[in-house]
Amino acid sequence: MSECKYKRVMLKLSGEAMAGKNGFGIDFEVAKRIATEIKELVDMGVQVGAVIGAGNIWRGREGGGMDRATADYMGMLATCINALALQNSLEDLGIETRVQSAIEMKEIAEPYIRRRAIRHLEKGRVVIFAAGSGNPYFTTDTAAALRAAEIEAECILLAKKVDGVYDKDPNKFDDAVKFDTLDYKQVIELGLTVMDSTAITLCMDNDIPIIVFALDEPGNIRKAATGEEYGTIIDN
Ligand code: GTP
Repeated sequence: MSECKYKRVMLKLSGEAMAGKNGFGIDFEVAKRIATEIKELVDMGVQVGAVIGAGNIWRGREGGGMDRATADYMGMLATCINALALQNSLEDLGIETRVQSAIEMKEIAEPYIRRRAIRHLEKGRVVIFAAGSGNPYFTTDTAAALRAAEIEAECILLAKKVDGVYDKDPNKFDDAVKFDTLDYKQVIELGLTVMDSTAITLCMDNDIPIIVFALDEPGNIRKAATGEEYGTIIDN
């Protein structure tokens, strides 16, 4: 098995990743597969932080005529549901985890405390950061970039449905071309929708490489972390 050059990584999962084929809710078979893949990293001695989205339950920006902030708060709560589901699947495999929430809900999860999160990681626990950044108008991508910077993760493993960053939507255009490498400025200038611009800027300012890969094949999280296989790497 390949070595991982990273000691500490931030894994960003979209909420849809938990939904499996249904596209909605949580498919526990899928959650188990993701947990098994995270276990591969933990078994290699990699410290894993994870941020999970909520698109399988609620999409703030699709809140119809809703007040944006309220819709975003609903999305943050939905990330907590996903975080607890992932925690459960990881614990089923015997992996110690802690969920820390950016919105205090002590009965359910620890509050987010940076130093405590780092301590958990040092002890080999997977830390799942729930409730995004706790602020409306920010995405869970931005939360992943922010927490990655805070915990000094060496990279963001950005799990996607497609296997990298393309110049246009590969689901719509047959002639879409995949980038092997990109720098942050190109992502912003070309308007590539890999992460929102706030998240990209945070990564750029803090020198956090983003490794984009598709979650569809078993083993891809480990492969992305070891450099064995990934779609696109975004770096300076
Ligand atoms: P160490 O001090 O490094 O051993 O970490 P620890 O997380 O084991 O310490 P602690 O005894 O504080 O936590 C034990 C359990 O309680 C863990 O599962 C924590 O996630 C959980 N826990 C700690 N604080 C809170 C909290 O504020 N709310 C909830 N819901 N759980 C908490």
